[in-house]
Amino acid sequence: MRASAILIVLASASLAMGQKSPVDFEREVLPIFKRACFECHGTPRKDSQGKIRGPKAGLRLDGKAWLLRGSDNGTILAPKRPKASELYLRVSLPADDPDVMPPKGELLSEGEVETVRRWIAEGASFGSWQGVLVGGNPRVSPPRRSSGGAGDARKGLSELAKGLSPASRAAREKLVAMGAVIENMDGAGKLVSVHFASHEGRIGDKQVEALKAIQDNIVRLDLSRTRITDRSLARVAAMPRLLRLDLTDTAITNAGLRKLSRAPRLRELVLCGTKVDDQAIKALGSSGTLRSVYIWRTEISENGLSELAALLPQARVVGAPDLPRPEAKETDRSGRRRRRSK
Ligand code: HEC
Repeated sequence: MRASAILIVLASASLAMGQKSPVDFEREVLPIFKRACFECHGTPRKDSQGKIRGPKAGLRLDGKAWLLRGSDNGTILAPKRPKASELYLRVSLPADDPDVMPPKGELLSEGEVETVRRWIAEGASFGSWQGVLVGGNPRVSPPRRSSGGAGDARKGLSELAKGLSPASRAAREKLVAMGAVIENMDGAGKLVSVHFASHEGRIGDKQVEALKAIQDNIVRLDLSRTRITDRSLARVAAMPRLLRLDLTDTAITNAGLRKLSRAPRLRELVLCGTKVDDQAIKALGSSGTLRSVYIWRTEISENGLSELAALLPQARVVGAPDLPRPEAKETDRSGRRRRRSK
């Protein structure tokens, strides 16, 4: 809890200092959800009778995948369009509106509502935050062999950084000017995580090509919602230390994935919202390194999913947001009220 108190202090400090920097989801928005929403839209938990309490309206706000999935009624986020986002509409309703969120307890302050609005208006980027991924879904294959805990991961990182020099300042500055957000994963900046915050629309194959300048240093790369094509994946496959790649909602296809199968260390691959289909199973299944593959909102069939899980016995193949089935009563919301807001 103390950590989150510090985060809140940091978030308000940055608000006081300069209004212009884009809203940082993890530092500024997440603490609001934690305080005001998680009680009803968080990780499912057992109540005192041992019954699992699923999230209200099937909506979880504790993981990126959940937020993108939305509720039982559909998506709640329309990036860049707060007024089309149920998430914003619900927190911005007047206090006496029966649909306002949270339905009980203290409402969000004006400042908090504005933070949520700005975050969506800027493109609803999650940065490198993923949040909670697991929670018992039949379309998620559990790993059959343990893949090591957090301690292992840390040891893995320091091994990865051995003998490597930090990414050059000049190269970093050039990429930042292009719209990249480069976060250090170690003190020295030898290992970095790259995403494009709210600039995804400006990022295509040319910009990915420019990442070559720091390609030895990239460990995590988030290309979600960028304009890249399959061409970029040859460049990405040449990144020697890349462990995690997010291609959510990009135009990549099976052909691109075949290039990617040469990536030497790729452990986690997110393909949600892409056009890949069962033809990609073989290329994916030939990877000796993958430990997690996320394939919901792709054209991969139920059979394809089982086949892939069989080809990758060490991996979790995640074919749906990892959501426990909400109880029947909670899903039956056909008598949904009309919103009052415009
Ligand atoms: C005390 C429990 C509770 C809390 C706290 C709560 N909610 Fe809800 N939420 C509900 C219930 C119950 C529903 C379903 C009924 C409805 O649609 O009004 C719901 C529905 C929603 C929906 C609509 C989902 C859809 O598509 O129909 C959104 C969006 C939402 N909540 C967001 C939030 C946010 C954001 C917060 C925190 C600021 C929050 N809620 C806090 C109980 C809660």
